[in-house]
Amino acid sequence: MNNTENISIENKIEELLKKMTLEEKVGLIHGNGLFRTEGVERLGIPALKMSDGPMGVRREFPNDNWNSLDYSDDYVTYLPSNTALAATWNRDLAYESGKVLGAEARGRGKDIILAPGINIVRSPLCGRNFEYMSEDPYLAGAMAVPYIKGVQENHVAACVKHFALNNQETERLNVNVEVDERALREIYLPAFEAAVKEGKSYTIMSAYNKFRGTYCSHSNYLLDDILKGEWGYDGVVISDWGAVHDTYEAANCALDIEMNVTNNFDEYFLAKPLIEAVKAGKVDEKVIDEKARRILRLMHRINIFEEGRYSGAYNTAEHREKTLRTAREAIVLLKNDNSVLPLDKNKIKTLAVIGENAEKLHALGGGSAEIKALYEISPLLGLKMKLGGNVEVKYAKGYSENEAQAQQLLEEALDIAEKADAVIFVGGLTHKLDTEGLDKPDLKLPYGQDVLIEKLLQANENTVIVMLSGTPVDMGAWLEKASAVVQTWYNGMEGGYALAEVLLGDVNPSGKLPVTFPKRLEDSPAHSIGEFPGRKDVHYREGIFVGYRHFSTNNVEPLFWFGHGLSYTTFEYNNIKLTKEEREDNIRISVCVDIKNTGNRDGAEVVQLYIRDVEASVVRPVKELKGFQKLYLKSGESSTAELVLDKTALAFYNEIKHCWQVEAGKFEILIGSSSEDIRQRAIFTVDKDLNYI
Ligand code: BGC
Repeated sequence: MNNTENISIENKIEELLKKMTLEEKVGLIHGNGLFRTEGVERLGIPALKMSDGPMGVRREFPNDNWNSLDYSDDYVTYLPSNTALAATWNRDLAYESGKVLGAEARGRGKDIILAPGINIVRSPLCGRNFEYMSEDPYLAGAMAVPYIKGVQENHVAACVKHFALNNQETERLNVNVEVDERALREIYLPAFEAAVKEGKSYTIMSAYNKFRGTYCSHSNYLLDDILKGEWGYDGVVISDWGAVHDTYEAANCALDIEMNVTNNFDEYFLAKPLIEAVKAGKVDEKVIDEKARRILRLMHRINIFEEGRYSGAYNTAEHREKTLRTAREAIVLLKNDNSVLPLDKNKIKTLAVIGENAEKLHALGGGSAEIKALYEISPLLGLKMKLGGNVEVKYAKGYSENEAQAQQLLEEALDIAEKADAVIFVGGLTHKLDTEGLDKPDLKLPYGQDVLIEKLLQANENTVIVMLSGTPVDMGAWLEKASAVVQTWYNGMEGGYALAEVLLGDVNPSGKLPVTFPKRLEDSPAHSIGEFPGRKDVHYREGIFVGYRHFSTNNVEPLFWFGHGLSYTTFEYNNIKLTKEEREDNIRISVCVDIKNTGNRDGAEVVQLYIRDVEASVVRPVKELKGFQKLYLKSGESSTAELVLDKTALAFYNEIKHCWQVEAGKFEILIGSSSEDIRQRAIFTVDKDLNYI
């Protein structure tokens, strides 16, 4: 939109505001249904309609209760979870996923889609990690930005959530987070800042929890000073459902819409009580005007008043094809000794598929991220679809989350495993544990899977282990003995098919872990200091040392490093070249590296750039991700990755001066295939200190 158009829209908004009564304005700023606000019919202002969530558009609910409606017209495309998307390290797929989600939301008549989730994965136990992208702020931001743009191209608003510090489910409604300013700025806020400034998310959801003693949804510091002040945000802040606790506090901070889970809509804090407070002179009507103004601006942005508004579409063949592309690239090959994978379907006559997750459907679970999927291809179905009639596929559950006959299930599984040419075990977790409202008790692989896996590995040396989960699990009991281990996620409606393609070699895996897989829970930073989960309060005493920043700096060996993921081919890194340009207010570093596919299969490599501040006056992590690029290379082909950095890649947050600071001195660039597997290094020097806000 150009300036003149903007001015004319702002004028229209002011005109409308003048015509509205106090009651009408208040109608805009609170829920008048579980997923909608109230419109003003006489002025042609419609209600705003919302829906969850990151993996697709949620099924329909009645306006005033949570009893599921048994409609047959609200089945949708089920997209790979946000963690799966982040594991692709592919910005184009993030954009395409956003486009699918936005089109489906519009197709279902929604104005706001409550996605993406970008909270930092602070502990592997957080029940909602599967809805989030990463432990790394740069990766989370880099994927969120194109995703949001994709959503919003469809005349639908994204709602990036949950702002901020909602990193655990235990006591999520009330827990108070204490975090130092440096960790807040370097770890917990950057992805939100990118979502707002670069992604231009039209809305943002304020979190349930407290921060420094104040509910995030009432926090003047988070919402007024940082979001709207420092970041210049002119969009709408929507509370999480039931995150508002006080009329006066919510009215007088930069929160714009109060939503809740109960149906006493008139009694919401920003409903009748607010009208009464204004009438009693306790709240200035101007604060309501500002909220209403932002909501009307949002309505213009999504073309709500326009005849030519995009009408969307759901369940298109194109959407399904896009989810398949994401699902393929999300799968991570963790281990592949002796090139056990891919399996050669011409050499297999009998295949044993074992494990409840081989046939379990996951879409309709996990809490608000549940999806009523048009279909979901399980791994077993995917394998059978790919293998056809010449391979005999035998299935045994092997373990079950519900059944107690462990011994019998185990015996059945071993029986078919022993006689098969190859075994594929698909286990892991389900949304019983990867879920909203609960954190996992530990890292253990549940339902007796460790014992079963060990026995399968003994029974058949061609056994491939697949973990399907939203979070890492402890693989210590059997990892040494397993030759091939694959990680997949809640990977959307085509997830099982994509998995079969990877296992059988039709697709060369290219996913990389967006989180560290620890060996033991105690090795994870929040746990090593006993600070997860807090109950009344939680102190993030690990500061900036979250995820691999802790593992690499403190020399703690994880099970699998952040950024790890193998391929069926090999890549060679050569010839790193740097150019540096230092100006008064910024620095530009361009890094080029030649990458060659040296194996005999086509494949893709995620080239990762980490930075190390060699001469710093404060403690800094030995590695911080500041760039990445995914390259698709045919067998034998070479290409050059070019990554460009600016001052933000070099700065730390100075808590005393309250600003970002790039210190003069040496820096090292580390280019790797994972955060541990560094292939190229180069040093450069920054000549002058640079501070900025
Ligand atoms: C969740 C949000 C969700 C909202 C609406 C809340 O419980 O925390 O992520 O968007 O419900 O369903």
